[in-house]
Amino acid sequence: MSANHSARSMEVFHEVFEGLPRQGPGSRACTLQALSLCRDLVAAPAILDLGCGVGAQTLVLAANTTGTITAVDLHAPNIARLNETVAEAGLGDRIRPEVEDFGALSYAPASFDLLWSEGALYNLGMARALPMCWALLRPGGYLAFTDAVWRTPDPPAAVRAIFVEDYPAMGRVSDTLQQIADAGLALEGHFTVPDAAWWTDFYTPMGTRIEELRAKYPNDPEALRALAAVAEEPRMHEEYGEHYAYEFFVCRRPS
Ligand SMILES: C[S@@+](CC[C@H](N)C(=O)[O-])C[C@H]1O[C@@H](n2cnc3c(N)ncnc32)[C@H](O)[C@@H]1O
Repeated sequence: MSANHSARSMEVFHEVFEGLPRQGPGSRACTLQALSLCRDLVAAPAILDLGCGVGAQTLVLAANTTGTITAVDLHAPNIARLNETVAEAGLGDRIRPEVEDFGALSYAPASFDLLWSEGALYNLGMARALPMCWALLRPGGYLAFTDAVWRTPDPPAAVRAIFVEDYPAMGRVSDTLQQIADAGLALEGHFTVPDAAWWTDFYTPMGTRIEELRAKYPNDPEALRALAAVAEEPRMHEEYGEHYAYEFFVCRRPS
């Protein structure tokens, strides 16, 4: 849903997403698979999680490394929720949530051993995001990110139209691999996020949340329209999911 929607529809849109375990496709298993591709990660790495949402993958990284994690997101309520989770889990010495625009970060160059970004970097455009990541990484540091990619050469116009609004530069796996190489990063591996990871922690709870909010706002036509628009996303995935995927890429700044 783009920024030219009304304030009320954006409010409802956020109310759907803030209540979910995660704000995009992914799973604990995928995060761990990508982490396992960071084969020579230093002990106690300095990690930066870009577009962390409410921190689903941040918590997996905290549980499976001994590092410290700066988790940034532009949407303040996501960071507020992550702050609560971090406090409840007693992870305040490991995870530092920050409201930040990752297009305007002021961290010193070569500050991090691991950059992580699930479903978020594309907002900046890969051509800008990947060189930025290269600069933030220490030599030998890793970048793990997911990117939406086309899986078929000629996707139907209906599905193209939706992605043109959200991610006009979306390409195929080979295009992202070329962008990784162009940014001077070395590929360590990549894999397709399985379809189950679109449903279990994302579209299935989203469906429940949409029904809750339909019941909460029965007489608010604008809210109901916004909910119908959000519900289109999982419906479209059911119909057209074979044409696109999320691909997890793990690459490294050469030493
Ligand atoms: C699809 S969600 C993914 C969230 C989380 N990584 C996950 O997989 O559950 C993308 C996130 O990126 C954040 N985001 C988008 N553009 C951003 C920017 N320029 N700076 C920081 N965060 C941004 C959004 O607020 C949103 O929480």
